Amino acid sequence: MKLIEGKPIAEAVYAECAKSFAELKAAGHTPGLAVVLVGDDPASRAYVGSKERKCRELGMHSVKIEKPATISQEELHEVIESLNADDAIHGILVQLPLPKGLDEDQVILRIDPAKDVDGLHPVNLGKLAMEDPTGFAPCTPSGCQRMLIESGIETTGKNVVIVGRSLLVGKSLALLMMGKGEGANATVTVAHSRTKDLPALTRSADILVAAIGIPKFIGPDHVKEGAVVIDVGINRIDDPSAKNGSRLVGDVDFDAVADQCEAITPVPGGVGRMTIAMLMANTIRACRLKAGL
Ligand code: GUN
Repeated sequence: MKLIEGKPIAEAVYAECAKSFAELKAAGHTPGLAVVLVGDDPASRAYVGSKERKCRELGMHSVKIEKPATISQEELHEVIESLNADDAIHGILVQLPLPKGLDEDQVILRIDPAKDVDGLHPVNLGKLAMEDPTGFAPCTPSGCQRMLIESGIETTGKNVVIVGRSLLVGKSLALLMMGKGEGANATVTVAHSRTKDLPALTRSADILVAAIGIPKFIGPDHVKEGAVVIDVGINRIDDPSAKNGSRLVGDVDFDAVADQCEAITPVPGGVGRMTIAMLMANTIRACRLKAGL
């Protein structure tokens, strides 16, 4: 069994970012990312904190906009519009999920597609479906694809089963992997909560992607001998033996399935590492596109 760790692959992405960043700097441009955090969900706050740290490390301009959960839909739209108009900002990310009562789709629709480094605006999702390389693909799916490429895992002609149909991961990853580029040309099936006989379907997968948000959901019965398993889940579960009483686990029961896999990603330290790296790469590309480089 080969462990596919996120760190060295993310480092390769950061090395590319640093090179591109230096070229932009030399031409008088500083990539800028704005992250909008609404409410006080601790997990969202932690994600936003790591995005800010990475921006600083790379020398990027970083803006964090924090708003209370009581913000109105219109006020939130105004925040987006002012970021759209700000020339120092090349990427805008609204941390999801938004607190109850706020309409996420309406917020995303207002982000300038050229600054939508999260790849969630319909223009970018449309470009993803059209395989137009001027768009931005969502960060977690492109991180999964990059892990497969960097690990030398063949995807052409392979059966990929993705468990989970979210726009942020499952649906977008399906579009990426059924496309024609590198790390693609796969035969993709997307399974979800209404799928019949899920274990039989997932056992047909050469590459199995778990993105359902249920701790340790994928067990030995779901995995074919010799399959590659990509675990997108990040779930916090109680663990009285842990220092703070909880720990992170994936959607895959790692200890139970690892031995039967050809390769598997760990949680933490797997796909999660890639999401921020791809966000930085998208932001630098947004700046390059704006600068005409
Ligand atoms: N929440 C969890 N993952 C993501 C992501 O990739 N983008 C945004 N905007 N919110 C998230």
